[in-house]
Amino acid sequence: MKAKWIFLITLPFLVGCELPNPFLEEDLLQHPPAKRCGDCHAEIYKQWKASRHSLAYTSPTYKEATDNYSKQKCLACHIPKELTKGEEPTPRKKHPEDGVNCVSCHFSSKDMAMHGPYDVFSPPHPSKKDPDFTKSFICSSCHRETYKQWKEANSHTTCQHCHMTPIKKADLIQKFPFDLFHAAKLVYNHAFPTGIANHLQVSLSKDNTTLYVNVLNTSVPHNIPTADNGNPKYFITVEVYQGKKLVDKDTKIITPKYAIPYNKLKKFEFVFWDDFDKAKVYIYRQLSWQKEKQLVKELEKTF
Ligand code: HEC
Ligand code: HEC
Ligand code: HEC
Ligand code: HEC
Ligand code: HEC
Repeated sequence: MKAKWIFLITLPFLVGCELPNPFLEEDLLQHPPAKRCGDCHAEIYKQWKASRHSLAYTSPTYKEATDNYSKQKCLACHIPKELTKGEEPTPRKKHPEDGVNCVSCHFSSKDMAMHGPYDVFSPPHPSKKDPDFTKSFICSSCHRETYKQWKEANSHTTCQHCHMTPIKKADLIQKFPFDLFHAAKLVYNHAFPTGIANHLQVSLSKDNTTLYVNVLNTSVPHNIPTADNGNPKYFITVEVYQGKKLVDKDTKIITPKYAIPYNKLKKFEFVFWDDFDKAKVYIYRQLSWQKEKQLVKELEKTF
């Protein structure tokens, strides 16, 4: 116990003086895999491991779309070495199975430091506070199309606000002795959850035997679905009834090219042969990597 306190008292002097930093762990500056960062950042590592970013290379749908990894031009954003902000990254050679890993987003070999949102004291590796980490801009190197849509939406809500919502104040590290020195900070969710657009405003109108499904997206400041790659889809399935009898049924598929934009009413037209007095509408989505459709919303109207 006594040794621990002597250690704690002398550590700031050791680190603060001109001597080489005895706590520096050199390999951290040589693009190690995410697991190595997890030695100290155990909680954040666990979140990242559950994210799509960790699967950007091993994902079966990615493997298929690249003809079993034969397309070199696809590697840049799926196994990036380091971020060059605003520009498409360059791919790395080591541990591709890590996908978009910690170093891809945080390390800069220009100043050999981990860039992040905070001003921290981090003896094992240099750190640098970088205000871009709390801005959507940091996502723009790879999510190029989505970022453009977000810019056009003119929203003040950042990507991080929705896709990295902080869970709680916690330690950034779970490793002795460093964990003793650091106050808890807000930890942003590194599972990068996608969420679901269940706030879509949907209304139905009818003109003769045509049904209009009017969709307004006021909650997500980019297209739905949005994609730089992959093939996420929305489905609108309509059933029309005369009394209790099902008269007809139709489905429209919404791809990123014909997506639902932010804050602009989109009308989907369903033309039927026979008249109807009731319609039921089901909206589903299927993200690029999902095997099954998910129900987003259902509604019905009697005319
Ligand atoms: C270095 C490139 C890169 C950067 C930077 C990046 N991403 Fe990604 N992101 C990807 C790739 C590649 C995928 C696809 C992974 C897969 O499913 O194969 C992805 C997937 C996602 C997904 C899951 C999408 C889905 O289909 O469910 C979300 C959400 C996401 N990113 C949010 C963000 C946010 C927010 C930021 C900024 C803080 C960000 N990303 C920065 C490359 C990047
Ligand atoms: C400029 C960066 C970039 C490049 C280059 C890139 N991707 Fe992606 N890719 C992304 C991002 C970002 C996502 C996240 C999905 C989204 O935007 O909704 C993604 C997602 C995907 C997905 C869906 C997720 C999954 O695991 O199934 C597939 C498939 C995919 N990309 C295939 C490719 C292929 C094939 C190429 C080369 C032709 C390629 N990508 C090149 C950025 C890129
Ligand atoms: C031996 C322990 C250790 C290892 C391993 C480690 N770190 Fe850290 N890291 C720290 C400490 C200590 C802090 C400061 C924590 C605090 O202030 O709460 C820190 C802080 C950070 C920050 C915040 C920087 C900021 O300015 O906001 C980032 C980002 C980071 N580390 C990334 C990484 C990455 C990426 C790796 C793997 C290449 C890694 N770390 C490996 C100990 C470690
Ligand atoms: C797709 C890019 C991306 C990846 C991959 C990524 N991070 Fe981050 N990280 C960020 C962003 C953006 C922030 C800042 C969030 C904010 O403050 O709005 C951040 C914040 C942090 C922080 C400061 C605490 C916090 O949560 O704000 C630490 C420490 C950190 N990351 C470590 C890691 C480690 C360790 C890994 C790998 C296990 C990792 N990051 C993977 C983008 C990334
Ligand atoms: C106000 C919250 C919000 C903001 C801000 C936001 N998103 Fe989203 N995003 C969502 C929701 C909700 C979904 C799920 C939509 C759906 O139902 O498919 C989503 C979906 C996604 C997807 C998966 C899309 C797909 O169709 O495959 C990616 C990738 C993504 N967002 C990236 C980003 C990026 C990058 C930014 C910043 C430029 C951003 N988002 C800003 C809420 C948000």
